[in-house]
This record gives sequence, structure tokens and C-alpha cells, in this order.
Amino acid sequence: RKTAPNAQDIRAQKGGVPLVSLTAYTTPMARLMDGHCDFVLVGDSVGMVLHGLSSTLGVTMEMMILHGQAVARGLERAMLVIDMPFGSYEEGPAQAFRNAARLMAETGAGAVKLEGGVEMDETIRFLVKRGIPVMAHIGLTPQSINTLGGYKVQGRDDQAQAVLADAHAVADAGAFSVVLEKVPATLADRITAEVAIPTIGIGASAGCDGQILVVDDMLGFFTAFKPKFVKRYADLGPMAEAAIAEYAAEVRARSFPAAEHVFGDQAPAKGAKT
Ligand code: KIV
Ligand code: NA
Repeated sequence: RKTAPNAQDIRAQKGGVPLVSLTAYTTPMARLMDGHCDFVLVGDSVGMVLHGLSSTLGVTMEMMILHGQAVARGLERAMLVIDMPFGSYEEGPAQAFRNAARLMAETGAGAVKLEGGVEMDETIRFLVKRGIPVMAHIGLTPQSINTLGGYKVQGRDDQAQAVLADAHAVADAGAFSVVLEKVPATLADRITAEVAIPTIGIGASAGCDGQILVVDDMLGFFTAFKPKFVKRYADLGPMAEAAIAEYAAEVRARSFPAAEHVFGDQAPAKGAKT
């Protein structure tokens, strides 16, 4: 694949080979995943994962733009999608368009993602009709943590109809795909079967049209807590801490730097290593 897929390409993968995606916030991490992901999300999880915030509510447009620009520099083959932060779109379609256009113009993202179902269908329609591809995000929507009352599974028992209605609303409004976060597997499978756009699961079902994880979660860098839906494919946080501890011990013992890390006072012969 030579050029990055666009929103239509992603949409066309409905029912095909599952879409692969991860979040990224920095250039080097984006480079590592570029050859493996269909799209990369600059998630507002950046606030919790990299900035130590206790929720995503404090994430600003400026933070999203800065991290979006960094990620864009690391991508050639994967599509870039960027989250709209809390407070940047909920007032109405005009506010949402203004901020979505800014996110796309300043980062080069090919689409924005926003949280909400039925209550966002007018906004999604407005953006899509004006040239902004929208990925929706329903089920557990972390920006609504204060009204949801916790990071609970969404759509169990008599809540299932509401989540199903959200899925249909965002699809009908023109979203090119929809993230399903922390919903029962059978509900995720039903939504995947009923809507014409790809479902991207996180804590949903292997039957979704794609999956996403927060990269620091799956690499074991973010260890403040681990949701059930996270699989740690590596344990890099503890590895990094062990390396830091070894460095600290060697500095204190004056065994670092060693001879090969310091410079002599005579210039080396031509062609030799400095
Ligand atoms: O902000 C984020 O990381 C997300 C994904 C987990 C879907 O919205
Ligand atoms: Na998000």
C-alpha cells in the first residue's frame, strides 16, 4: 500500500479483514506502528497516559494539535484520526465544525473522532456534509465520566436498546466508522451485523470490524490501572524502570561512564572512530 487510506477506504473494509488501530501521541511511536496499522488515533487519552491527568476532561485543543502534529510526522502508510477534546464540540454543529476544521488543518488528520450517539447525530451530519469525516465513539464515553458515574460496562440489560439506537444514529448521520467501548460482546456483534459502517472494538468483541487499544496500555508503559479489556503484549514499563535503576546504581558507583563512553584528548587518526 503506497498511500494512507482515507475515510472511504476504511469504510469499505466493513466485513473484511479486521481493521487494526492503536493510539499514538508521539513521532517515534507513530513510526513503529505505521507499517502495521490501518489507522492511528491521536486519542484524548493522551491527557491520562502522557500528562498524568485523572480523566480526559482537562485535555485542550492545543494539546491535541501538538500531539497530532507529532504523530503526523511519523506516519506515511496509516490514516491519522484525531479526537475532539471535551468542550470543543458539544455546544453545537458550528462550534464542532470550527474546531474539527482546525484540528484537521493544523495536523493533517484525515478525520476526527467525537464521543456520543443520538445526541450527536445532528453534529455528525453537519460535519460530514461539509467535508469532515467523522468516526463516532459510543458505549463507554470517557468524557462523560461524571454523568456515567464510573468506567462501567455500557449497554447491559435494559441499556442495550439505547446503545443500539446510538449506533444506528451515528451510522445514519454519516459517520464512516464507530468505536464501541466497553459494551457486552453480544451487543457489539449485533451492532456490527446491523450497521453498514465498520465497528471498532475496545472492550467489545472479536467480531467487530476492527480493534483499537491505547498503545501505552498494550506495551505495559501505563500501569496506573489496567482495564479488563487491555491485553499487555509487552511489559515495557517495568523493563524501563529496571534500566533506570541500573543506570542510577552505576552512576553512584562511578562505573558509568566507562572508558568507551568518554573522549581522549588527542584527535583520532583519520577514519578511526571518534
Ligand atoms: O482516547 C482514546 O484513546 C480513545 C480510544 C481508546 C478509542 O478514544
Ligand atoms: Na478518546
